Amino acid sequence: MRFDVVSLFPDIFEAVCKYGVTGRAHTQGLWQLKVWNPRDFTQDVHRTVDDRPYGGGPGMVMMAQPLEDAVNAARADRTDETPPVWLMSPTGRCFDQKMAQELALGPGAILICGRYEGVDQRFIDRCVTHEVSIGDFVLSGGEIPALAIMDSAVRLLPGALNDKESALQDSFHDTLTGLLDSPHFTRPEVYQGQAVPSELLSGHHANIALWRRRQSLALTMARRPDLIESARQAGRLSKSDEAFLASLTKN
Ligand code: ADE
Repeated sequence: MRFDVVSLFPDIFEAVCKYGVTGRAHTQGLWQLKVWNPRDFTQDVHRTVDDRPYGGGPGMVMMAQPLEDAVNAARADRTDETPPVWLMSPTGRCFDQKMAQELALGPGAILICGRYEGVDQRFIDRCVTHEVSIGDFVLSGGEIPALAIMDSAVRLLPGALNDKESALQDSFHDTLTGLLDSPHFTRPEVYQGQAVPSELLSGHHANIALWRRRQSLALTMARRPDLIESARQAGRLSKSDEAFLASLTKN
């Protein structure tokens, strides 16, 4: 898998190639990253990448031409004909685990990091295939969203994680049927007077699985009832799950 990132701050992306799971996967050759700076594609002596918005208003708008030329350079450097071009934008479709899984199965993408107040719409119309948000909040640029998206996809690549199971256990994964993950504990058995739940010490695998399932259901019901409803609609809640959920609302 290969990512091409278009950003005015290429150094930010060293992090994802150097550290942790994504860094190790990069060293192993599981994925490649190339960063393209739109400033290198400007056509004036000042290397201008932004200008004031037509119609007035605060802030600056990123110009279309340096962005389009950077995307074209990235495209020409790749072997796949038509890679997806994702613009990081708070007005985009909200990124989720399903999108991360689809991304991890494909050739990668070209990720565009906007800055300032926005990006000239003509660039978006000509070059961008998807606009993607990482949540209902506004960041000062698309660099952190691009890092988050790459991390979420790379860690799903076969061989990226040490313990093959750990991706499967994560929150939102299919094996949890879209529920939040249950709490985790490690040594010591008692910390600051708080003991590890006895179910986890029992060594009884079925009881442990049931405890975890119920913790997931209770946590998801409390924090993300929308995910409970989605799981229900998709037929991913068992009779036993439903009985447990009903018992929660009674108490
Ligand atoms: N750029 C600024 N805020 C953003 C967000 N929430 N998601 C994606 N790109 C952004």
